[in-house]
Amino acid sequence: MSCYLGVDIGTSGTKTLLIDAKGKILAEASKTYGLSHPKPLWSEQDPQDWWDATVATIRSVLRKSKVKKAEVKAIGLSGQMHGSVFLDKSDRVIRPALLWNDQRTASQCEKIEKLAGGRKKLIKMVANPALTGFTAPKILWLRENEPKNFAKCKKILLPKDDVRRRLTGEYATDVSDASGMLLLDVKKRKWSKQLLGKLQLDESLFANVYESEDVTGTLTAEAAKLLGLTTDCVVVGGAGDCAANALGTGVVNSGTLSTSVGTSSVMFVHSDEVKIDPAGRLHTFCHAVRGKWHMMGVTLTGGGALNWFVENLCQELVAKTKDPFKVLNAEAAAVAPGCEGLFFLPYLAGERTPHADPDARGCFVGLTLKHTRGHMVRAIMEGVMFAMRDSLAIMDEMGVPVKQMRASGGGAKSPLWRQIQADIFGHAACTINAEQGPAFGVALLAAVGAGEYKNITEACKANIKVVEKMPANTKAKKDYNERFGVFQELYRSLKSDFKSISNLDA
Ligand code: XUL
Repeated sequence: MSCYLGVDIGTSGTKTLLIDAKGKILAEASKTYGLSHPKPLWSEQDPQDWWDATVATIRSVLRKSKVKKAEVKAIGLSGQMHGSVFLDKSDRVIRPALLWNDQRTASQCEKIEKLAGGRKKLIKMVANPALTGFTAPKILWLRENEPKNFAKCKKILLPKDDVRRRLTGEYATDVSDASGMLLLDVKKRKWSKQLLGKLQLDESLFANVYESEDVTGTLTAEAAKLLGLTTDCVVVGGAGDCAANALGTGVVNSGTLSTSVGTSSVMFVHSDEVKIDPAGRLHTFCHAVRGKWHMMGVTLTGGGALNWFVENLCQELVAKTKDPFKVLNAEAAAVAPGCEGLFFLPYLAGERTPHADPDARGCFVGLTLKHTRGHMVRAIMEGVMFAMRDSLAIMDEMGVPVKQMRASGGGAKSPLWRQIQADIFGHAACTINAEQGPAFGVALLAAVGAGEYKNITEACKANIKVVEKMPANTKAKKDYNERFGVFQELYRSLKSDFKSISNLDA
């Protein structure tokens, strides 16, 4: 028997799956870790936590599944994108990694645009504008604010690629994850020598770039021993978690879009060609499908907004109920679409798409004495979907075909949230037979790398099917169309107030 590991190094934890050649899940394990916010807008993690969680979860799935070590042929890695692991000449981690949701780099983003010769030129070089979450501004931040650390820095890796280094001893990355560093020529699928030159960053600082299904190395003797595997086990390129989730939901053809509600929320559409939003609101990155691309919009706080609400405002409920989300879903389901005039702007961590505004803030607008907790929960669900519809509106504007929408992530588990999605997008929300998202996507990539399938498109076709379609309700769809205009207007009205609020804290 041949089996394959998929490891997803996420923000709240690492999840590992072991699948067989038919895509059947033999075992799964996960391990959580914390996030640190040493200052407002900062968000960091220790790369050691990712490695410890990878080792623990791989060992756990091997123990649970009882497979023989020689049967595990390949590993696929997925990870939170954009994070910066700074390594010294002995591969020691220099400081905690800055994460995708860290917002400290606004001035470095401006500087990158300037050095590139303007926003338009930057978009021409790397297909995207400079955004605070991306990796390049984090590197400039280190150079400007911690020059001693920068002087020690010999390699800069993305989160999953640091795990790969510890597994194989290789410095390698894949095209989808590398796209989010803002240093890749996305069209040519290699580092942009032009931008690296303008930013005075040496290419030797970065990993070698591979297609996602290609083999990047084999396990070192030390890693093989630690994990209980063999040195024949290969590690494939893998993918950034958004592209990995797209594979795991079968979004590998033109016309398919995945809507994923996790900590952040992502609208991800496959594209056979490189299409760039001239205004730079949507990201254009390489897909984990060889020679293909994707466009995506990221709502920084998605399911995270509901978690925030539950953790901070529902302590009593959490203490007395096993499943507080079930209770809250029922309360929200009893409220009519539109929440009787209550809106929620989910910008709790600033916003990426379409506003690229680190100062944006979360808020409830329209509260009256009539509103209850159920209204607030429903308003959060609607607000997240309205924010995601902003990305869909740009896709429409760019003429990107969208024929089928596949819902995934924790948010897709709630039938109410799926219905709200269908009604707000005006498009049926499809669910698929595979629920494991990114970890499943990269396990399939591992199977491709080991020769089990011809390519990832074939692997997805063999393993992923739509099992349910939730159509949009005509009346709710019409109602939400009107409310979407109000939602969009609210950000415009509040934009300068958000800036003033942020200045108060500065
Ligand atoms: C994508 C992004 C997030 C992280 C979260 O651009 O920033 O979705 O990858 O894991």
